[in-house]
Amino acid sequence: MTVRLGVLASGRGSNFQAIQREIEAGTLDARIHLLLSDRQQAPALAIAREHGIDARALPYDKTDREAFERAAGDALDAAGCQWIVLAGFMRILTPYFIDRFAGRILNIHPSLLPAFKGLHPQRQALEAGVKFSGCTVHLVTQDLDAGPILTQAVVPVHPDDTEATLSARILAEEHRIYPEAIRLLGS
Ligand code: GRF
Repeated sequence: MTVRLGVLASGRGSNFQAIQREIEAGTLDARIHLLLSDRQQAPALAIAREHGIDARALPYDKTDREAFERAAGDALDAAGCQWIVLAGFMRILTPYFIDRFAGRILNIHPSLLPAFKGLHPQRQALEAGVKFSGCTVHLVTQDLDAGPILTQAVVPVHPDDTEATLSARILAEEHRIYPEAIRLLGS
């Protein structure tokens, strides 16, 4: 059955594009019904519209995070989204939103969780001197970057890696495993 997705994105939206590419190629039986952003200028919005996806920015006020989440939740429900895909959404969700969509929110994190939670995981991996890192698709729970893991991919860390080179190697795997994880939801 076609998986009905809603996407939250704050930035360039390359993970969103990777998912949409597989949908259009017919290798992922899903449809993005709505893309929402907390940033009017997010490139993801323009890209989504080019693909005929309903894409909207909603005002985000740090002093009232729930206001964004109530509006986003209502729009996602009205669009009939079963699953919420966080694709570079740079805001911490409050318990309100996580409860409202309990067990139906996916995130991708550029480390092999439970290692290197939080900000700058690629930098954390380099600083720790690990030989391998990667990315993780997981369900979102109230604990940051700690929900049940759906899939992971491993990449080597090279001695001459910078944060940029390691991030690029991990990102290529993100684009492969995020669609793969969504495929699992429909199976
Ligand atoms: C990705 O590295 C993702 O793992 C992290 O934020 C980045 C978003 O990139 N959560 P993009 O907007 O999907 O290109």
